[in-house]
Amino acid sequence: MSAKLKTQSSKLNTSKRLVASKRSESGWRKEIERVLITEEQIARRIKTLAREIERDFRGREMVVISLLNGTVMFLADLIRHLNLPLRLDFMGVSSYGAGTESGELVFTKELRLDVRGRDVLLIDDILDTGKTMSRVLPKIHALKPRRIKICVLLDKPSRRVEKVKADYVGFEIPDFFVVGYGLDFAERYRNLPFVGVLHPHIYEAASKPAGKV
Ligand code: PRP
Repeated sequence: MSAKLKTQSSKLNTSKRLVASKRSESGWRKEIERVLITEEQIARRIKTLAREIERDFRGREMVVISLLNGTVMFLADLIRHLNLPLRLDFMGVSSYGAGTESGELVFTKELRLDVRGRDVLLIDDILDTGKTMSRVLPKIHALKPRRIKICVLLDKPSRRVEKVKADYVGFEIPDFFVVGYGLDFAERYRNLPFVGVLHPHIYEAASKPAGKV
């Protein structure tokens, strides 16, 4: 094949790929029933939260502990607005399985920083049943920090099973199955810049036994 023909055929392949990716992208977005919290609302709320946190932590040695993986976007946006010296560490904790209910909890990464005598800001994306927090909190308490404050982007108080309260809440939301801005369903949708309500047919299909339609 001549160089010219080669170029044309690769251009054709590229445009075919673009059409295919656009198709799958719009299909993917259609799985979101509606936007619950826009990118702009999140950005505005985070700035306000950051001011509150700065006021409460001023003059202290702050350690931010972020729970993997759902906090990725919230953490990045929140700490860039925190005008305070801080150290950052991560704890890996995940409910087992890909369903919509919080299942068995597995710790996938332990803390590396020493938090003894420090002021800890514990960050999570969502406080739902409270089972995750109620497992994580005693672990951090055992390391003898001076105090622990909890900050979550989303709070679903109607779903609470454990007695846990967050000190800083971005948005209190009803019991919708939300994804985006770090939150997943079966590890997808984390990269959406907004918080959206997942179309029920997506998670209903996933919870059906194999072979059933
Ligand atoms: C999600 C979320 C919270 C937790 C809240 O984590 O990030 O940590 O569930 O639910 P709960 O209050 O009912 O315990 P998940 O285990 O899905 O892991 P992820 O952060 O990797 O998405």
